[in-house]
Amino acid sequence: MTNIGIVGGLGHVGLIQSACLAKLGYKVIAYDIDMEKVKTIMKGEMPFQEQGLTELVTEGLNNNTLSFTSEISDLAEAEIVFICVGTPALPNGKSDLSHVYSAVDQIARNRKKNCIAAVKSTVPIGTSRKLTEYLKDNNLSDKVTMVSNPEFLREGTGVKDFWEPDRIVIGAESKEAANKVKQLYSPSEVPVINTTWENSELIKYASNAFLATKISFINEISQLCEDVGADIRVISKGIGLDPRINPHFLQAGIGFSGPCLDKDLNSLINQFKEKQKKPLILESALQVNEQQRASVVEKLQKHLENLRDKDIAVFGMAFKAETDDVRSSHSLPIIRKLLSLGANITVNDPWVKSPEQGRISEAEVAGVEWISSPYRAAKDKDAVLLQTAWQEYENLDYKKLCAEMKKPLVVDGRNLFNREEMESHGIVYVGVGI
Ligand code: UGA
Repeated sequence: MTNIGIVGGLGHVGLIQSACLAKLGYKVIAYDIDMEKVKTIMKGEMPFQEQGLTELVTEGLNNNTLSFTSEISDLAEAEIVFICVGTPALPNGKSDLSHVYSAVDQIARNRKKNCIAAVKSTVPIGTSRKLTEYLKDNNLSDKVTMVSNPEFLREGTGVKDFWEPDRIVIGAESKEAANKVKQLYSPSEVPVINTTWENSELIKYASNAFLATKISFINEISQLCEDVGADIRVISKGIGLDPRINPHFLQAGIGFSGPCLDKDLNSLINQFKEKQKKPLILESALQVNEQQRASVVEKLQKHLENLRDKDIAVFGMAFKAETDDVRSSHSLPIIRKLLSLGANITVNDPWVKSPEQGRISEAEVAGVEWISSPYRAAKDKDAVLLQTAWQEYENLDYKKLCAEMKKPLVVDGRNLFNREEMESHGIVYVGVGI
């Protein structure tokens, strides 16, 4: 049985990769530098919410196919080590690769035999080659062979995405190493792209940049819809039925956010600039996204005239439904903007907990009140702003919601509510492109 190591084993990508490979029967050791997190998961408590993950982790722990450690030397026997550490943006727009370099360095220095280091983290094009040079320069090249194996899972459906991938991309110089990584996933029938390091690394960026561009495209069209009396939901359906376009990622709204699309788009733009190229489409996708985010605040201003001392309930903090992740969520800058305009903010989210109970820091949401029921959050408010498309909100009793509010104004940043039904209860409904 192949022994697998995971570095960054308690992050989103790392934990899903660990638990799913353990389910496939491999012996997986997941390493994370955060000892407290390791202790917590050993007690069965997950570091984040993800559908189906708790069961898989518990099963792996019970079967002894999955274990966790905060000692990197415990990965010394692993034949393949997946690197799933973060690559956050630095203030200069470049990706911070210090965790990736440190992972490769430590793996190499803590072993006798060669292993494959398969990079799942999103890294700038050229990183696998540079890491190989780094290993050579440090006389460690007999210890580690670099492979690029980007990840395409989405938060909220990460486990499902692992079992049903669209493709597996493997970038390698060594055919033998590429084959070993491919064999790990061999029960899967999906297309495998065996390619170079650079192609593999760029496929990841181009995928996320294309998805971001698709969202910005539909959001741009939605802006015209509002002026010409068209409905973006019908436009999305109408164009999405063309298989060359397809219906996915055509939901207009508040724009994309979260830990990946924004960061990767910015990093790709930066990589263009480093080569003295101007990425026109990518920069526009980013600008439309910023505009889209600003437009929900403008809609509140238009309907409430002045936001000073207005009471606004914000529904949804997570960057999308089915996750409790607020990292880089659009919700935080929007709330900061509303606060700076003098509004009083109450928030509700089915999964994201207040600073006292959850993982969000007090500083990020200073001055914001948390209320666990959407009806109570809406009580005596001048407006509700919906930021995350949780099903709980879709199923709200509109009559009851309206009765709670001071002024029945709803700005729906996700086109989630039923406009006609809301209006029939006397709610002033403002959507995106409808
Ligand atoms: C994204 C990609 O979809 C994954 O393939 C990739 O692996 C991942 O980034 C990553 O690089 O790790 P994720 O950030 O989890 O996944 O979430 P998405 O489902 O892509 O949604 C991103 C944002 O776009 C959310 O704010 C979502 O609400 C928004 N969105 C999505 C729209 O506004 N409209 C849509 O039609 C779809």
